[in-house]
Amino acid sequence: MRCLCLRSWTLQCLIALTLLSLSAAQITQQQFEASFKLYPATGPGGCDRDAPNGTPMLSFVLQSLDDAWTMASTAISEMQLYFSSYSGRRTRPLLFLFFGVKFTEDYNFEPDGTSENTYNYVLTVFQNMGKLQTAPNPDSFLQLPRFRCLEDYAAYYEHLPGDDGKENMTAELAAVHYDEKMTNGQYFPGLMFVFNPEGWYPPQETNPTGGGCGSIENQFILQAFTLTGGDTATQPLYGITLCPGIFENPTTKSLGTPAEDGGVDLLNKFSDSGGSTKRPLMKDIANRSYVCSKILHEMAHLVTQNTIDDQPAAYPPDGTNFDNRDWSQWVLNNNYVSYGYTQSVYLSLAKPNLAQLNADNYLFLALCLTYEELDCVGTFQNDIKRRRSLPFQVSSRTIEKIRSGELDLNDM
Ligand SMILES: *[C@@H]1O[C@H](CO)[C@@H](O)[C@H](O)[C@H]1NC(C)=O
Ligand SMILES: *[C@@H]1O[C@H](CO)[C@@H](O)[C@H](O)[C@H]1NC(C)=O
Repeated sequence: MRCLCLRSWTLQCLIALTLLSLSAAQITQQQFEASFKLYPATGPGGCDRDAPNGTPMLSFVLQSLDDAWTMASTAISEMQLYFSSYSGRRTRPLLFLFFGVKFTEDYNFEPDGTSENTYNYVLTVFQNMGKLQTAPNPDSFLQLPRFRCLEDYAAYYEHLPGDDGKENMTAELAAVHYDEKMTNGQYFPGLMFVFNPEGWYPPQETNPTGGGCGSIENQFILQAFTLTGGDTATQPLYGITLCPGIFENPTTKSLGTPAEDGGVDLLNKFSDSGGSTKRPLMKDIANRSYVCSKILHEMAHLVTQNTIDDQPAAYPPDGTNFDNRDWSQWVLNNNYVSYGYTQSVYLSLAKPNLAQLNADNYLFLALCLTYEELDCVGTFQNDIKRRRSLPFQVSSRTIEKIRSGELDLNDM
């Protein structure tokens, strides 16, 4: 990984280089507080305590935020170099691979307008992720987004807003109002802490249906979720909640520098924040449909108030023949979600206008730009050579065109 000393990250990078050269940088508590509305440090919802598995949550969160902001910052600066013949050699193919952005041979956008619009949209999303650090929604009713560690004080442990749109401390709790109860009759989530101040997610509780993190039986397979505050009653909920499962995972920087061209498995290792230890093999993608990726994925939801969603997966028309390259015939399969490297690329190839509305496409572009070693375009090529069950069996000339950023989708 290259050192990324850019804009507001400069100081942090200097600190990283001079003081912490062997360990990864993380943002400070002050930066955390400037960007999010937090819950009391060691209280329910707060991050300064241990996750159920014993992981100290605060340092994990600060490191994960640093991972996300560093990757977003890298994406911004690399994207702005798309027109350079040298840096653009890496950027243009990735913009095509994940967002269907096409360039002419002299590094202009394909003149249909779509490519430039997509490029600008994607760039703005990354810039808004960066703004969470400096100017998080200053003029919006949303104010600072919330950041919650564990769901014990999460979504529904909020009073309903009053006429002024602010949380009304004498009004009903949202959990009571929405009658979010578990099968044992207790309120979940949020109120669990109230009823069980000794601990979180007690083992005797089973299968809460109202929880955002997933059910206890399934070991909270959701890693994190973002609430957008789309209507008045849910405005105070706007923010990111981390679930117990995410703390089972390494942070991105703690994985160190990836090996050169480690293939799809390595890519997924670097992007995966799923609590599941399963690697996302093709056949396993169905089971990953509840697994979110790291904080950058959540930030894509957050800064667009879920305009960027988790899109259904793109599938070949017969559901099985992944050699089918008649992209216009591909369909969205609502049983699966576009999570992971492979599905993000499928979505971009088959439904390019949806790729910019899928959170993992942002994660993978940022990841591939940050970690050159992952050689994401080369991975694409290797998959072809290995004749994996991917829709990528194209000519070597086409590969060259992808690499140089001059690919026309119709050529494939
Ligand atoms: C807050 O809730 C109480 C009880 O429901 C209500 O009487 C009061 O008018 C509310 N305040 C605002 C500002 O809406
Ligand atoms: C998903 O997981 C379940 C339970 O482990 C398993 O039975 C099923 O075959 C898996 N589905 C796929 C598509 O791998």
